[in-house]
Amino acid sequence: MDTLDFLHKDFFSPQKYKEMVKKHQENGDPTGWFDAIYQSAKGDYSKVFWADLEPSPYLVEWLEKDAVQKPIKKACVIGCGVGDDAEALSNFGFEVTAFDISPSAIALCKKRYPDTTVCYLVEDLYDYPASWSEGFDVVYECNTLQVLPDSHRSKARVAISALLAKDGYMLVSCRSRNEGEKEEEIPKPLAKSELDLFKAQDNLQEVYFLSYDDDQEPPVPHYFAVYKK
Ligand SMILES: C[S@@+](CC[C@H](N)C(=O)[O-])C[C@H]1O[C@@H](n2cnc3c(N)ncnc32)[C@H](O)[C@@H]1O
Repeated sequence: MDTLDFLHKDFFSPQKYKEMVKKHQENGDPTGWFDAIYQSAKGDYSKVFWADLEPSPYLVEWLEKDAVQKPIKKACVIGCGVGDDAEALSNFGFEVTAFDISPSAIALCKKRYPDTTVCYLVEDLYDYPASWSEGFDVVYECNTLQVLPDSHRSKARVAISALLAKDGYMLVSCRSRNEGEKEEEIPKPLAKSELDLFKAQDNLQEVYFLSYDDDQEPPVPHYFAVYKK
């Protein structure tokens, strides 16, 4: 066993994980722990404890409706993890840029999909190339906002919205909570009022909103929302 094994899927300790995240957040370094998750997998993407190893069924359902009718359509995946959602977008004909702050995550994607057409990059949501601004017809965000502390959420949300081209679609998938509840939870699910800021602050139009429980035992409440610019 080495020091990161409590993050490996086979030995995962929720308590130690939460302590690690909390410590980073209290030390003002809320993004400094992500790479450790992917490092702990030791080169095996299937051992990343939070990876579903399949694209979101809600993303796929939306894609099947073929909502973007363009010969060349560009998509960006925020915090792409081990790449399932990025590959799904690529399979539906998108030119995909998928990025993550974790170099180990991006190394796992490249190893997992050696022949991919997805452009996998190590980038920071807070410091991506200026040329990406308003550059994507679809922006997909899944579970990144919820692992950030309150102090980073507005900045992250604004950076995500800024990627969206005119008439583009923003898809957001996350755990959900009722207002005022689960304030100390790690990850801290999103309240509806937080998602509503995509409308109120970033001037996007909500075109679909789903509240659902997943199939875990006990079930975990989630939101899946689609916004249009
Ligand atoms: C909970 S994981 C979700 C991964 C993937 N989207 C999924 O649903 O499986 C959050 C991801 O966001 C990435 N991340 C966190 N902060 C980031 C930032 N500032 N820039 C880019 N990626 C970031 C993490 O490295 C991690 O892969």
